[in-house]
Amino acid sequence: MEVKKLIHLGLHAVALILGIIGISATFKYHNESSIPNLYSLHSWLGIGIIVLYGIQWICGFVIFFYPGGSKGLRADSLPWHVVFGMLVYMLAVANAALGFMEKLTFLENSRLPLPKYGSEAFLVNFTAVITILYGVFVALSVASQGKFSK
Ligand code: HEM
Ligand code: HEM
Repeated sequence: MEVKKLIHLGLHAVALILGIIGISATFKYHNESSIPNLYSLHSWLGIGIIVLYGIQWICGFVIFFYPGGSKGLRADSLPWHVVFGMLVYMLAVANAALGFMEKLTFLENSRLPLPKYGSEAFLVNFTAVITILYGVFVALSVASQGKFSK
């Protein structure tokens, strides 16, 4: 169980850190190229989602790992942890889809516009479809373990 927890919290820490690095890179790129920050729905949702993800990680760490809550608190919190964890995860997947759409729309409307039915458009859209299908399979595999109903 401890090993499972360590893998779970470690992988989520890696995801959180990579998310923060990714967002910082966009801010750096925007600032260096004089592009305004935080003008899109994607960026607004993105900030909200990364903050929720951080809160979810800290709550999980404090309650289930260190210092760790009482047995009762852990049992009461687990269903909330699972539901909020899935919610934040699905929101991140949805926001990634918005990001793909936004990027492709920029490229289709740039000075050298990408063709609407060109191979790049298919590549970006299919990558987004695969990302969403991946999210669906993660949700189904968590639901199939009965974690939502316990
Ligand atoms: C593969 C998936 C993703 C793609 C293709 C993508 C694409 C983009 C693009 C093109 C921008 C610049 C335009 C803008 O500011 O709206 C951007 C900005 C941003 N993205 Fe994403 N994104 C992805 C995933 C995410 C996720 C999952 C989050 C957070 C949970 C996120 C958070 C942000 C934030 C906060 C900004 C704003 C930075 C600023 O205003 O300077 N993105 N993204
Ligand atoms: C943003 C970070 C996190 C998210 C999105 C998240 C999400 C989830 C989800 C969806 C589940 C149910 C599915 C499963 O068992 O794999 C779960 C279970 C669990 N999580 Fe997290 N979690 C996060 C961070 C943490 C942290 C830091 C801890 C600290 C140890 C933790 C402890 C647990 C425990 C003990 C379970 C129950 C595992 C089981 O019953 O086998 N989580 N989490």
